[in-house]
Amino acid sequence: MVSNRLPVDRVTAHDGTPSWKPSPGGLVTALEPVMRSNDGVWVGWTGTADDPQGPFEADGMRLHPVPLSADEIELYYEGFSNDTIWPLYHDVIAQPAYSRTTWESYVEVNRRFAEASALAAAEGATVWVQDYQLQLVPRMLRERRPDLVIGFFNHIPFPAYGLFSQLPWRRQIVEGLLGADLIGFQRRADAGNFLRAVRRLFHVQTPHGRVELPAAGDGKWPNSMSDQPRTVIARHFPISIDASAYTALVEQEAVRARAAQIRHDLGNPSTIMLGVDRLDYTKGIGHRFSAYAELLKEGKLDVDDTVLVQVASPSRERVETYRALRDEIELTVGRVNGEFGTIRHSAISYLHHGYPREEMVALFLAADIMLVTALRDGMNLVAKEYVATRADDDGVLVLSEFAGAADELKQALLVNPHDIEGLKRAMLAAVHMSRAERRARMRALRKKVLTHDVERWSRDFLGALAAARPTPSAVAAAEVE
Ligand code: F6P
Repeated sequence: MVSNRLPVDRVTAHDGTPSWKPSPGGLVTALEPVMRSNDGVWVGWTGTADDPQGPFEADGMRLHPVPLSADEIELYYEGFSNDTIWPLYHDVIAQPAYSRTTWESYVEVNRRFAEASALAAAEGATVWVQDYQLQLVPRMLRERRPDLVIGFFNHIPFPAYGLFSQLPWRRQIVEGLLGADLIGFQRRADAGNFLRAVRRLFHVQTPHGRVELPAAGDGKWPNSMSDQPRTVIARHFPISIDASAYTALVEQEAVRARAAQIRHDLGNPSTIMLGVDRLDYTKGIGHRFSAYAELLKEGKLDVDDTVLVQVASPSRERVETYRALRDEIELTVGRVNGEFGTIRHSAISYLHHGYPREEMVALFLAADIMLVTALRDGMNLVAKEYVATRADDDGVLVLSEFAGAADELKQALLVNPHDIEGLKRAMLAAVHMSRAERRARMRALRKKVLTHDVERWSRDFLGALAAARPTPSAVAAAEVE
């Protein structure tokens, strides 16, 4: 497994004592159970500048750190990954920066990840590269290790060619990805956008999601990066969660008691709405606040019996767009609470923290309505976590049609978060929905999430990868049969 972050980040206490905590974001949450059930090595960054940490074990996983300097964090991670690719791939919600300096750092760091992976991988191993920070790694790795089977999964959207074509390094990115045998995307539309980019840039056909590459050396481009022609497959594989871990937590008495305590601490309102997001401009937190504030203003909701709890976990705090977003969101919270709050009740309970999974499950259980109003989101695993938690077949999911999860969770109340009136209508419909309708919708949602869990996702991806490029041992076994 190769990803920008390892599943744990280094933390250093005030007295200098080091320890490890789970890394932020849905990627690690999804991949950790996959790695626990496979005997493999995980290559990635420890989250700290110039960390001299060598290979180590954590929670039974073998981790191989790739060190990043302070400059590389600024240029490769905060710069090219999160100030260029992230906004570009999320439909330019924020303006991407196109900087040659950050691009050079991205190339250099991708090269180091490829080298570290080439060193860590056994002969004929399967290497699974994750996400937009490492799009050049598949090609760089294939050039170093043609024996490897290489998969790539893009956790975020892949934009339409009209936007992708803005990127000055669009060819290099596509060539980098084509080093893989299988390229996975969240939604069918993402895979379609990528294949269109391949067709537009290289004037080749892509029937049934297949890109046929000619042998290197026959002068055609893109070439296969090997002396044989090669096929690359691009397809969608919607990611999911370890659903059974959530259903197991719901059964814990302490978690259920905590949910009841949360309701009590919030003043036992009739309706608790909940938002849980990394503090990111793609998540539509401001749109959700606007709709909620208008409903309060119009008297359609009342702070005496409604509260919106917003967990906004800190993210990418040194990137200017994220700082500006934090200021904007916190200003809005202050205004809404100032205008509509009372001595007894706040309109919005805003928490700028990350919480352990037990606390999140208790919050999901306590919440009558879950608001996922992303303007663009690869998948949104929080939506699936809420559903997995609601073993009581209760609760209403309001879900943006621009989140990948909307392709699967069709029984949610689907919304266009840009349409504030539509969002208000959906919020009110959720507040007033009958128990019978809540149950029917949640049952259907749960069926989907519980049967399409992360184990199935990784099995599907790895199965398709093995079929796309059988390892020498699989070929030998098939010949014996
Ligand atoms: O899935 C999107 C993603 O960027 C992951 O790659 C990442 O691990 C997570 O969100 C959190 O972001 P970051 O690593 O920048 O804190």
